[in-house]
Amino acid sequence: MKGFNMKVCALAACLLLAGQVASYSMEDLCAQWSGSGYVGDPADCHGWGYCQGQKLVSWNKCKDGLVFNAQTSSCGFDNSTICTTSAVATCTAAKSPMYVAVLNDCNQYGYCFGNGSIGYGNCGAGGVYAANNNTCVWGPTCPQDTICRFMKNDIFVGDPNNCGSYLQCNNGYGTPGQCAPGKYYNPGNGMCQATNPCTGNSGNSDSNPGTTYTVGQSVAGACTGGTAIAPATTFFMADKQTCYGYFYCTTAAGNGIWNACLTGTHFDPTTQKCLSPASFACTYNRCGNVNAPFMAVSGQSCKQYEICSNSATAYCPSSNPYYDEVHNICTADRPAYKICA
Ligand SMILES: *[C@@H]1O[C@H](CO)[C@@H](O)[C@H](O)[C@H]1NC(C)=O
Ligand SMILES: *[C@@H]1O[C@H](CO)[C@@H](O)[C@H](O)[C@H]1NC(C)=O
Ligand SMILES: *[C@@H]1O[C@H](CO)[C@@H](O)[C@H](O)[C@H]1NC(C)=O
Repeated sequence: MKGFNMKVCALAACLLLAGQVASYSMEDLCAQWSGSGYVGDPADCHGWGYCQGQKLVSWNKCKDGLVFNAQTSSCGFDNSTICTTSAVATCTAAKSPMYVAVLNDCNQYGYCFGNGSIGYGNCGAGGVYAANNNTCVWGPTCPQDTICRFMKNDIFVGDPNNCGSYLQCNNGYGTPGQCAPGKYYNPGNGMCQATNPCTGNSGNSDSNPGTTYTVGQSVAGACTGGTAIAPATTFFMADKQTCYGYFYCTTAAGNGIWNACLTGTHFDPTTQKCLSPASFACTYNRCGNVNAPFMAVSGQSCKQYEICSNSATAYCPSSNPYYDEVHNICTADRPAYKICA
């Protein structure tokens, strides 16, 4: 095909061809990175996520017409920024000729004519396209098939295909590296260590704190100071130690019977109802009873949130400083929920 001046690997045809490029989620990317910052969305070249503490803490998309450049952590014009998830999308927008990787077939490469069209070339039997230096190299692994494609420059990350080893990300490529003999790379702190962090999956943390009350337990004095909201004659009182526990009361002098709100709700003492946690500001552990990865911190105008798995306080990126716990996203505008007041 004219316009292509690709060096084609024309040696023996015995190597395996690289297959489909592996797919990763933004959670997968964050899990390998001890630092915090932006990553690209492997499913959508307009999307980005923000990693912190090995967790994906927010995500969003670039504005219309912009594509996320993971290496520079910025949104760029689609006519000059490669769409990491689609060669066709890159060429549709490209205003000048360029070569692009073809994501589902590393044996091929694409060529953007600069007029919206794409053409394809082939690296020959056993060859794979290396987009970083625009050549065909020997397979069987596809050089583009690395989490570094969605991560910024000059960082070290864990190798998801080789736990205990690391990748040095540069320009979307991962240079594999290994710790000294007998040591393992820990993606949680970016250090080599003697103990193997790869045994088992310790991702499941139970964030439900224990409570000292059990359902149906009768507690003396729990109803003191409470009143019913007319026309009701019975009333409910907060247990004053969790966000979701309450007492059922018949008289202010009687015992209170403890109960818990349904999962996902907290007890609002003002309305005496179990409601969305965002609709009032409970000052006890807001992670209790919600099964959510993050919760806004009470009294901080949603500028802080808690990572429920480890009770750490975290902050949204300055471009989207407010944490919207209902949608689990960092936003530019302060959400209208009471918890953000
Ligand atoms: C790319 O698109 C932007 C926004 O539409 C425009 O300002 C810019 O001139 C374009 N660049 C090229 C090379 O066409
Ligand atoms: C774009 O340019 C190529 C090469 O000149 C040509 O073959 C193709 O038909 C053009 N496509 C459009 C949509 O003009
Ligand atoms: C081109 O990139 C591939 C994959 O990253 C690498 O293996 C190869 O050595 C590079 N070749 C040159 C000439 O830089």
